[in-house]
Amino acid sequence: MAPESGPGLPPLGLYVHLPWCVRKCPYCDFNSHALKGALPGAEYVEALLRDLEADLPLVWGRPVSTVYFGGGTPSLFDATLVESLLSGLRARLELAPDVEITLEANPGTVERDSFTAYREAGINRVSLGAQSFDAGCLAALGRIHGPEDIHRALASLQAAGLDNFNVDLMFGLPGQSVDMALEDLRQGLGAAPAHLSHYQLTLEPNTEFAARPPVLPDDDESWAMQEACGEALRAAGYAQYEVSAWSRPGRESRHNLNYWHFGDYLGIGAGAHGKLTLPATATATATAAGTREVRRRVKVRHPKRYLAGERVAMDDAVAGEDLAFEFFLNALRLRDGFSLARFQARTGLEPGIIADPLEEALERGLLEPVADGRGGAEGRYRPTELGWRFGNDLQALFLPERG
Ligand SMILES: C[S@@+](CC[C@H](N)C(=O)[O-])C[C@H]1O[C@@H](n2cnc3c(N)ncnc32)[C@H](O)[C@@H]1O
Ligand code: SF4
Repeated sequence: MAPESGPGLPPLGLYVHLPWCVRKCPYCDFNSHALKGALPGAEYVEALLRDLEADLPLVWGRPVSTVYFGGGTPSLFDATLVESLLSGLRARLELAPDVEITLEANPGTVERDSFTAYREAGINRVSLGAQSFDAGCLAALGRIHGPEDIHRALASLQAAGLDNFNVDLMFGLPGQSVDMALEDLRQGLGAAPAHLSHYQLTLEPNTEFAARPPVLPDDDESWAMQEACGEALRAAGYAQYEVSAWSRPGRESRHNLNYWHFGDYLGIGAGAHGKLTLPATATATATAAGTREVRRRVKVRHPKRYLAGERVAMDDAVAGEDLAFEFFLNALRLRDGFSLARFQARTGLEPGIIADPLEEALERGLLEPVADGRGGAEGRYRPTELGWRFGNDLQALFLPERG
């Protein structure tokens, strides 16, 4: 587990958003923009480093446990750009000796040998957006690559010796059967990834799919896919540690785990989100007996405005009950659940304030104590199978009461 990053402060990750893609996928609601013309690579690296410089006082002296280049399509940035960005980050921040540095890659953008070059630039983990190995499904998703590009990218990852990689697959796709979902999984597992993310396709507002929805498998079929694929993943030695995340033992995404453990992260880049624990300002609502506060920050979304030097779009303190709810929104995504000790350490709130919803969740069989029946010394609780299936109901118990 990542170390605390300062006296009483949670571990710190760094998220770097690279907002361009070759083409916008019709299901995608991420802050990603089809690239028109040449990639403003060097200019964007400069803007990112300026953004970081301005944020440095917020994380002074805290080592960074994980770095995540997400998008968008970070693999549009070649290894030379990634290297100059990483050396700029290293010059300004203390990266932990065992820092995990992930790059998201789209199989349609990786040239031969590029993973070797990324590895030499300092990348030690890759997340490959495969989505499916079926040519028809990939076309229905508007992907820029075919199955052969995924196989080429996987071979190139292996040739580069980057064995700590993730494969993203989606299921519940237009025209997909249970057998087709299992075949996607079989091909994904064939590359022996350390990690596999398995997402059910959702129709997100303000996407092309929301405006013109494709015909999707019904709920029963999608549930059957999820169950059959879960069984196949377990049989292949993967454990589900989060709603959509499966890994071999010890190969969980440390960066994402830090989000779900309610750790801190600095976000740089267009539209990047951050969450930081800071000494309380005079005006803000503080937690932990008035000594610190948790702030959520969002950077300006549009790449053009960001490149022009605009930076912070939102910077809000998260207080009291909202803080507790946010903790549970994250923690209840995890099979391992949470401990009251972590709740107190990360939110600065007394566990007593969640006694009622906790008791109700236990009574309704949605949560169970780990260890001695009272959650052990740290007060550990995790979702039961029922709580796992009805995760929204479980989370709703921790919603703040609005007077
Ligand atoms: C931020 S995306 C980045 C990956 C990269 N841009 C790509 O598409 O190859 C992370 C992953 O979220 C999943 N995803 C994106 N939109 C989704 C949606 N509407 N429903 C389910 N999963 C989605 C995809 O598997 C995708 O690879
Ligand atoms: S490549 Fe990834 S980030 Fe880009 S539009 Fe498609 S799903 Fe979204």
